[in-house]
Amino acid sequence: MEQITIQGKNGLSTILVGESVANVENYINSASVFVISDKNVASFHKDQFPNYPVFLADPGEKSKEFPVIAQIWQWLLENGADRNSFLLAIGGGVVCDIAGFVAATFMRGIPFGFVATSLLAQVDASVGGKNGINLYGYKNIVGTFTQPEFVICDTELLNTLPEDEYINGLAEVLKHALIKDHQKFLYLWENKTAVLKRNRDVIDSLVTQSVKIKAAVVQADEREKGERRLLNFGHTWGHAIEKVSKIPHGQAVSVGMVFAANFSVSLGFLETDQRDKIIKLLEAYGLPVVANLDNNVVFDAMLKDKKRENQFIHFVLLNNIGKAFVKELGIEDIKKFAF
Ligand SMILES: NC(=O)c1ccc[n+]([C@@H]2O[C@H](COP(=O)([O-])OP(=O)(O)OC[C@H]3O[C@@H](n4cnc5c(N)ncnc54)[C@H](O)[C@@H]3O)[C@@H](O)[C@H]2O)c1
Ligand SMILES: [Zn+2]
Repeated sequence: MEQITIQGKNGLSTILVGESVANVENYINSASVFVISDKNVASFHKDQFPNYPVFLADPGEKSKEFPVIAQIWQWLLENGADRNSFLLAIGGGVVCDIAGFVAATFMRGIPFGFVATSLLAQVDASVGGKNGINLYGYKNIVGTFTQPEFVICDTELLNTLPEDEYINGLAEVLKHALIKDHQKFLYLWENKTAVLKRNRDVIDSLVTQSVKIKAAVVQADEREKGERRLLNFGHTWGHAIEKVSKIPHGQAVSVGMVFAANFSVSLGFLETDQRDKIIKLLEAYGLPVVANLDNNVVFDAMLKDKKRENQFIHFVLLNNIGKAFVKELGIEDIKKFAF
């Protein structure tokens, strides 16, 4: 088991990679515990949940909306939750986000922890203390920065994860390699068969590396004023693709990463052979490198993104594989490249 910590503004967060959901109670310091999960995850793993009241949300992004949050607040009240209660999320990124948000706001904040069950949640959503919900079609537009006390990444649980969800998570793993870790890039290249076959040791190692990268970035910049923006690599264009199409997040980010790599080449920061290696690796993992969409439409969606600051966008570019940086670019510069 690997243990990685983040010292957040509201306390210490410990991420345990390779720990089992069966041991979760060892990390909870309260007799009053409430569990939030989704119906999918429960259908596979309910027998491993600790024995406390459970709220089961419908699976999917629709649950990250205010009516569900209000329902959970009410459920907590009706079941006698108080300031000393503990909220435990067992699920993917959606469950972690709603549980984190509910815990951060119920009675002005109660302690909480996560058992992350999807690859994306283990390497990304559960780590870093951001929790957001959606409003009027804007993703993660309402939320807080509050660290969970612990995150358990039980990689055994990934055996039941559908293949497309697994690939979604891998896109973030690849992103971590591209922004921060050339060694991880080589590892992903050399071990692709084992990764795709979900070899447990290889997954443990990948999740550990990713959590270390994300934790270090978050530790340096919890509130996303600088370094943390690196994690948006591929996401500026990727989110816009997601907004205008039904392309899943990981695939949209893959296309967004290729966009950013090409942009880096065009601005003279990245060598073409490095860009080609990136494209080859994404393709080897079955991720798309182009989307058949009208760039005008994607561009407009990008302009509407919440992260836009006036006429500038903080765009994440590459100097090299494993070396990303943020550049403030004018909208016109991006337009010139995109068309
Ligand atoms: N807070 C953050 O910093 C952050 C970062 C990245 C993403 N996110 C959020 O995370 C969400 C995406 O997370 P996700 O991809 O985990 O989505 P998700 O929670 O919807 O899970 C994807 C699907 O897999 C199922 N599932 C999860 N674990 C399973 C398992 N072990 N076996 C079988 N099925 C399982 C779920 O029921 C769901 O149907 C988005 O809402 C995104 O905004 C948040
Ligand atoms: Zn992402």
